[in-house]
Order: sequence, then C-alpha cells, then structure tokens
Amino acid sequence: MAPLIALCWLFLARHVLSQDEFNPLKHVDPLIGASNGGNVFAGASLPYGMAKAVADTNSLYSNQGGFTLDGAKITGFSTMHDSGTGGNPSLGNFALFPYSNCPDGDINQCAFPKKARAEFGAFGNGSVTAKPGIFGLTLDSGIRADMTVTQRASLFRFSFPPVGPDGEPSQPLILQDLTDLADSRQDNATVSVDAKTGRITGNARFLPSFGTGNFVLYFCTDFRGADILDSGIYVNSRGSTLVKDLTISKSINGYPLPGGAFVRFKSGDEPILVRTATSFISVERACSHGENEIPDFNFTKVYEAATGEWEEKLRPIRVSTKGINESTLTNFYSGIYRTMINPQNYTGENPLWSSREPYFDSFYCIWDLFRSQLPFLTITDPVAVAEMIRSLIDTYRHVGWLPDCRMSLNKGYTQGGSNADNVLADAYVKGINGGINWEDGYAAVVKDAEVEPFDWCCEGRGGLDSWKALGYIPVQDFDYKGFGTMTRSISRTLEYSYNDFCIAQMASKMGKLTDAEKYIESSSNWQNLYKADQTSAWWNGTDTGFVGFFEPRFLNKTWGYQNPLNCSYLDHETACSLTNTGSETFESSIWEYGFFVPHDQATLMTLYGGPDAFVRRLDYLHDQNITYIGNEPAFLTVFQYHYAGRPALSAKRAHFYIPSFFRPTPDGLPGNDDSGAMGSFVAFAMMGLFPNPGQDVYLITPPFFEEVNITNPLTKKTARVRNVNFDAGYENVYIQSATLDGVAYTRNWIDHSFFTEGKELVLTLGRNESLWGTRVQDLPPSLGRYVGFNGTFSAAAAGVRTGLGARPVKRYKSEFALGGDGRSGL
Ligand SMILES: *[C@@H]1O[C@H](CO)[C@@H](O)[C@H](O)[C@H]1NC(C)=O
Ligand SMILES: *[C@@H]1O[C@H](CO)[C@@H](O)[C@H](O)[C@H]1NC(C)=O
Ligand SMILES: *[C@@H]1O[C@H](CO)[C@@H](O)[C@H](O)[C@H]1NC(C)=O
Ligand SMILES: *[C@@H]1O[C@H](CO)[C@@H](O)[C@H](O)[C@H]1NC(C)=O
Ligand SMILES: *[C@@H]1O[C@H](CO)[C@@H](O)[C@H](O)[C@H]1NC(C)=O
Ligand SMILES: *[C@@H]1O[C@H](CO)[C@@H](O)[C@H](O)[C@H]1NC(C)=O
Ligand SMILES: *[C@@H]1O[C@H](CO)[C@@H](O)[C@H](O)[C@H]1NC(C)=O
Ligand SMILES: *[C@@H]1O[C@H](CO)[C@@H](O)[C@H](O)[C@H]1NC(C)=O
Ligand SMILES: *[C@@H]1O[C@H](CO)[C@@H](O)[C@H](O)[C@H]1NC(C)=O
Ligand SMILES: *[C@@H]1O[C@H](CO)[C@@H](O)[C@H](O)[C@H]1NC(C)=O
Ligand SMILES: *[C@@H]1O[C@H](CO)[C@@H](O)[C@H](O)[C@H]1NC(C)=O
Ligand SMILES: *[C@@H]1O[C@H](CO)[C@@H](O)[C@H](O)[C@H]1NC(C)=O
Repeated sequence: MAPLIALCWLFLARHVLSQDEFNPLKHVDPLIGASNGGNVFAGASLPYGMAKAVADTNSLYSNQGGFTLDGAKITGFSTMHDSGTGGNPSLGNFALFPYSNCPDGDINQCAFPKKARAEFGAFGNGSVTAKPGIFGLTLDSGIRADMTVTQRASLFRFSFPPVGPDGEPSQPLILQDLTDLADSRQDNATVSVDAKTGRITGNARFLPSFGTGNFVLYFCTDFRGADILDSGIYVNSRGSTLVKDLTISKSINGYPLPGGAFVRFKSGDEPILVRTATSFISVERACSHGENEIPDFNFTKVYEAATGEWEEKLRPIRVSTKGINESTLTNFYSGIYRTMINPQNYTGENPLWSSREPYFDSFYCIWDLFRSQLPFLTITDPVAVAEMIRSLIDTYRHVGWLPDCRMSLNKGYTQGGSNADNVLADAYVKGINGGINWEDGYAAVVKDAEVEPFDWCCEGRGGLDSWKALGYIPVQDFDYKGFGTMTRSISRTLEYSYNDFCIAQMASKMGKLTDAEKYIESSSNWQNLYKADQTSAWWNGTDTGFVGFFEPRFLNKTWGYQNPLNCSYLDHETACSLTNTGSETFESSIWEYGFFVPHDQATLMTLYGGPDAFVRRLDYLHDQNITYIGNEPAFLTVFQYHYAGRPALSAKRAHFYIPSFFRPTPDGLPGNDDSGAMGSFVAFAMMGLFPNPGQDVYLITPPFFEEVNITNPLTKKTARVRNVNFDAGYENVYIQSATLDGVAYTRNWIDHSFFTEGKELVLTLGRNESLWGTRVQDLPPSLGRYVGFNGTFSAAAAGVRTGLGARPVKRYKSEFALGGDGRSGL
C-alpha cells in the first residue's frame, strides 16, 4: 500500500462514518443556536416535555431559552423553559443555585439574590456537555452541575469540590429562588421549607412572555445524598434558619424582591441530588409528579429513559452517511431534534378547564410553526400532531377561539392571520385522524373567518366588516367591533386570503360545497391589493426594474403607499413589528409578501409577467438580501421556483442557504429558532421534500444524502428517496429524471401518501438543469391556470420576456380545491 493511499484511507476512516456505527442521537447537538440570537433551549427535555432543565444565564438579550454561550454568567438552574422564541425570556421559574459552603459557616455570607450570585456563575465553555436528555457544566467555583428530566420533573446532580473557596471543607448550601427569567413575579409568592426532610414547596404568579394574562406555577423540591445541616428562607440578601415559611411582596421599585428558601448539608463528599417538579394545579400535584416519575433519584436510570425516548423519536428518519461529514449529519439530526422541544405536552396540567382531551402549550407562535415545523411532525410524529390539534380544538371549545400563539396557559399575540386554520387544514388534507373531532375543527376555522373577536390582538381576525365589504383589510380601517393593532393591512389581507383557502379545502373534502365555493372566492382577495403599475426603487433612488406590487388601500379604495423594500432585511429604520407605528407588512417587506399566495402561484406568476419574470423576481429577492432566511416568511420562497417550472433552481437555492446560513455551531443559526421552525426548515430542505403548508403538496428536490428512509410511525411503512449519481460535493443537484415505485415520474411534487404508503422515489441527478418537472402538467396545484409555459425553460434561462403580463387572469374552479382529493387536474 503506497503511503499516499494509506493516508487517504486514514482520512476516510476518520471522516466518513460507516453505516454500522449509525446512531442518530450521536449527531444531535443541542447547543446549536445557543449564542448569536438562536435563543434555543439547550438543556435536558423529553420530546414535548414540560420539564426542561438547564442553566440560566444573565445574557442581556438572548436568554429567552435560559442558557447561552455568549460569555454571560449562570444565575441558576431551573426546570421550565421555552425554545428559540423572541419576546421576553420565557419561564425559568424557581431557579436553584449551589454553593460549596458559606464563608465562616455564615449563611449571610452566601449571595442569595439573582444579581449577586451571578458573580459565582462563571463557567468555561469547554465544561458544557449537552446531549438529548442531559445537560451539564462546571462552574468556576468547581461545582459540577448535571441535569436530566422526566415529563414533569427534573433531576439535578451537584458535585462539590472537597473544600469551598474559603479553604474549609464543603458544607453545601442549595437555594431555590422565587424568580423567573423575566423577573415577572407578581404579588404574594410563597415558599416553605421542611426542617426535617429539606423539602421545599411553594408557588408564584408570573406573566407569559409574549401574551396577555398571567399564570400560577407550583413546585416541589426534594434532596438526596447528604444529611441536612439546617434550612431556612431568605429575603433580599439576608436569610435565617429560624424562619421556614415566607409570603413575599411583588416588588419594591418594580423589580421582584429576591426571596426563597435554602437547605444546608453536613457534607459535600457525595453528589447531592435535587428533584424539582412543577405543576400548574397544586403543590401536592407537583410533589406527586416528582415522587411518581423519579422515585429513587437514580440519575443514570432517568437519563437512560430520556435517551430511549429520543431514540424512538429520531429512529423513523435514517439517511445514508456515504461521503457525508459529521457536520452535515449533525446539522440534519439536530434540526429534527429541535422540532420536538416545543409545543409542550401539559396534558393533565391544565387548570383552566376540565376535559379529557390532550392539552399542549407553547405554540410559540403558529405564524412560525405552520410553515414547516408542524408539517414536519405530521410526517415523523403524526400521533403527536393529532394530540396537538385536539388540544387546539379543545382550546377553541373552552376559550372560544383557536389560538394563534399560546404560552404558559395564556393567549399570545397574533402576528397576522388566523394561521391555526392552515395547521388544521394541513393535517386534515393529509389524513391525520387520531381521535380528532373534525366537525368541531371545521366550526373553529369558520368562526375565525366569520366572527370578529372583541380583542383580536390574540385570536381570530380583525376588520371582518371591511374584509367582507371590500375584499381587503384597509389601511386605517374603521372597526368598532373589535380591537387590535391596526397595522399590517397588506400581510393580514394576504394571510386571511390563504386562511380562507385552507378552510375551503377542508370544506371541500367534507362535502360542504357551498362553503367551499364561498371561501375559494374570498381566497382570491389578495388580488385586491395588487397594484399593477407600482414600481420599486431603493432608498437611494435606484430602480429595481420590477413593476407590480401589493400596496395598502384605504377604505375609499384609493391607494396608500409603502415602499416595497421597507421592512426588508436591509431596512433598519422602519418599525415592522407589533407596534402602533408598525408597517402594513409584518416583519417582512412587500417584496417578500409578494410571493405569499401559496394557493395561486399561477395567477400571481401571470400578474408578474410569466414564469421567467417570476424567476427573476425570486432571484432578486434572494440575491439582493431583500429576504432573510432567518425569518419564516422566507422559507417557502426558497422552493417557489418549482411553480415556475424550474425545480432545479429551488435545489440550487437550498444549497445556497445550507450550510452557509445554518451551521451546526452555537452561533450557526440565522436568528431565533422559533420553537424549532428553523430546525424544521433545515430538516425538510436536506430531506429534499419541502411542504407547501396547508396543502397536500411536497416540492421535490434532491436530498443532501444519497438516500433517505422515513418510516411512518402509524403505518410502519418506509418511504425512501434515493439519489442516483449522488455526489457529496453537491455539484450533481439537478434532477434529470425520476421514478416513483419504479414508474417514470415527471411531476415536481408528491403528496402525503408517499409517506403513509411507503413509496420509493428514485432521482437521477446531473450537473445541469434538465427538462424534468418543467412542463405545465408537472407543476404543483394552483387555483388559477398556468400560462406561458411551453415545455422548455429555455425562454426563461435566456431571459426572454414572454409578454404575458397583459393577459387577463383566467380563473377557474380547479379540482385542486373542490375535487376532494387535493390533486390538480392540470
Ligand atoms: C465562550 O465563552 C466566551 C466568554 O467566556 C464567549 O465570548 C464565547 O463566544 C464563547 N464561545 C463559544 C464558542 O460560544
Ligand atoms: C397579598 O397579601 C396581602 C397580605 O395578606 C394582602 O393584603 C394582599 O391583598 C395580597 N395581594 C394579592 C394580590 O393577593
Ligand atoms: C440505577 O439505574 C441503573 C440503570 O437502570 C442501574 O444499572 C443501577 O443499578 C441503578 N442504581 C441503583 C443504585 O439502583
Ligand atoms: C432504506 O431502506 C432500504 C429498504 O429497506 C434499505 O435497503 C436501505 O439500506 C435503507 N437505507 C438506509 C440509509 O437506512
Ligand atoms: C402527552 O401526555 C399525556 C399524559 O401524560 C400522554 O398520555 C401522551 O402520550 C403524551 N403525548 C405525546 C405526544 O407525547
Ligand atoms: C442603491 O442601493 C442598491 C441596494 O443597496 C444598490 O444595489 C445600488 O447600487 C445603489 N445605487 C447607487 C447609485 O448607489
Ligand atoms: C381616500 O382616503 C384617503 C385617506 O383618508 C384620503 O387621503 C384620500 O383623499 C381619499 N380619496 C378620495 C378620492 O376620497
Ligand atoms: C421606508 O423606510 C425608510 C427608511 O428606510 C423611511 O425613511 C420611510 O419613511 C419608509 N417609507 C414608508 C412609505 O414606509
Ligand atoms: C448579502 O448578504 C451577504 C451576507 O449575509 C453578503 O455576503 C452579500 O454580499 C450581500 N449581498 C448583497 C447584494 O448585498
Ligand atoms: C461538510 O460537508 C459540507 C458539504 O460538502 C461542506 O459544506 C462543509 O464545509 C463540510 N464541513 C466540514 C467541517 O468539513
Ligand atoms: C452542462 O452545462 C455546461 C455549461 O453550463 C456545459 O459546458 C456542459 O457541457 C453541460 N454538461 C452536460 C452533461 O450537458
Ligand atoms: C418555447 O419558447 C422558447 C422561447 O420563446 C422557444 O425558443 C422554444 O422553441 C419554445 N419551445 C416550444 C416547444 O415551443
């Protein structure tokens, strides 16, 4: 063997994994997104778990998920969290904090308040270990903290150095604090410590992080591993072993007064195990969760069980590792992992109403989740999706409306449309069942469309009178029936249009044909804000060369104006969020919303001047940084080339973004993970099948792996996508031909039966764009008719104008929505 060959062999052996050692959990890194604004929850959780244990830092802008790797210090170890959210930091209630000892044995020389104890919260990045179901780090004080979880309880293991900072033998003090990450505690929190057992119990009222109302959380904490020396409570920076119960005022000067309880131990020779469980119902219930779920404080056992649950969840997706490096695998499996952190399963923990239905929380927010996260779970975990949908419908039954965002038992803020409609439709057209009462589900979405809530900040839709009379949401609407932030007239019009389309699909499949016709009609309301002669210039005056954009319209039907580039990624000045001075588009530009007509790309394309003009506009959107892949409205635009008969360009665009914008590193995410939305984008894009959410449509691009197998947990059938001529350098990313179950297949999309029936898609790849998937009959369904296609993409590729802009939009009731099988009759 020549030395060179031996070297190559070594290189391959080290860098290319063999199929045998394949274990998906090895490729999950929960620390992806732990810095640079990813805001992920990096700690220990079960799939959809309520208990989420991690170290909380005092990062100024980024501790929404508790932990960060940005140099911020630890202020505690807590058991409730959300993941990847914006808004205020979520939860992080009742943090624990350990000291080896208090100098001179004097408890008042230990730092109690959160702000003061941060001084003892330094840690080295290198000490952090994070794997599914377990998290740990070593504080610079020498204390090692490891944590693992069950569904509603966390088990922390604190290991102490032999001596404390003062050189005296360890006599650990562990405190538990009545705060949360956002310092939102309200009046009269209570805490008690039992002198004999050390059990700490209590409750407090807190505020949700992006919504209205408040909630009460109860907790129960038990210790194991060392004899108790003494215990007590503290207020502010002073404690006493003589007092065991505390009811504490909200605050002085607006900041919650520090307060809590502590237990001291005779020795730190053995690790001290701390079991903390929570409940939204009572202290007794919190205690019984701890006792039932972690009866024997066996850390290894709890951790092994957690690992087992994650293996179970990740097992359905298996990829070929041939030629694939660890980075790519980790990117993929970590993305999948992050789709199952939120929403959280609070079944049995809902104090708001009694019901036998499941209760899920942390739909945070559906504006983010409907696009790819929940559709991803529809493939990999349909049982969970059915429970989530039952929970959404049950929320409608008892609260009156489907939520658009929900966290910590409260209503979150609505960002655009009533997008739970899209979620229900997506599951319905894909045949998700699992005990869902679809008649109630249908009533819920119809209520969104028909009844305006008094307070549409947090549910339903605003401006329904105008919507019905004018066919759009006017800028500066007159609305005396319901109240909400009166902005976003363009994005709300576009989202309401799509919501109505989703309702129409449900109606059609349920045989409610009158309703179907009605909502199909209103689903074209987006056209009422299309201003055909609108141009778009950059702020410096340079024209983009594109004509025809959505624009705001007043009640009297005259046009308003918003620069189509405002609220784009490059606009750092306009207010684009949920404020009274906000724009007519939410968190995104008119340019980008200009593609949000997921149900009628054909008509939109015709308005934009035909397929080649559509492609040039999409290219400009991406290449000029008008869109940013770090926000969810960008997701579908990566793949919308399919509708212009250019599936090759979608593939190319997916590789443009991954891995450049999604790297498997702590700072590798392009923005908030948003409860796993970014994770699902990566997972879907790399798997090669991206959903048009709300429709039974997946757009086909080559997977980033030679082969992907996806086993449906219900039917147990395995769907398989196989790339022929695969190259791991991703030069051959263009589909030349395809077969489905051995038969030539030219459509550039497939439907959900691919997964449930376990079909096999074989894609033959090449270096150049081909004619595959480019003809009208190959295109995904659209309400309007595709025009301007002649079976080649050469016109588009050559930049030849097809001159179709002037043609009238011909609309017809295609089988797409009304035929009942979700398939195009094109
Ligand atoms: C490690 O910690 C430092 C501060 O201590 C921080 O600035 C840095 O970003 C961290 N590194 C990583 C990879 O997160
Ligand atoms: C808190 O407790 C005090 C003392 O019992 C009581 O006067 C006050 O009304 C309570 N506040 C709330 C919000 O319950
Ligand atoms: C803890 O659980 C592990 C794994 O189930 C088991 O091997 C071990 O014996 C248990 N330890 C004790 C002290 O029971
Ligand atoms: C996918 O499934 C096929 C058929 O069972 C099997 O031959 C192949 O090895 C699987 N591929 C992977 C990556 O697991
Ligand atoms: C949610 O929790 C309930 C109650 O513990 C359980 O029965 C159900 O299986 C859980 N659902 C999922 C998807 O884990
Ligand atoms: C104006 O701004 C756009 C976008 O940043 C840029 O492409 C263009 O070159 C600029 N024009 C001039 C004249 O600076
Ligand atoms: C329509 O309403 C807008 C906004 O109130 C106003 O500026 C405009 O003058 C009105 N146009 C007509 C024709 O009434
Ligand atoms: C668009 O944004 C620019 C700053 O980027 C701002 O000056 C202008 O007022 C905005 N225009 C509109 C119509 O929103
Ligand atoms: C777009 O942004 C990327 C960095 O995210 C930069 O490399 C590129 O030059 C930008 N392109 C334009 C046209 O501004
Ligand atoms: C892994 O492979 C991808 C795709 O070829 C490449 O972009 C990336 O740089 C590689 N990463 C490492 C760490 O080698
Ligand atoms: C692919 O396209 C390039 C030019 O873009 C051309 O040089 C090459 O011959 C083409 N390859 C095949 C196999 O058609
Ligand atoms: C399609 O249109 C292009 C550009 O007009 C033309 O070059 C090509 O020959 C046409 N192909 C067919 C099959 O009509």
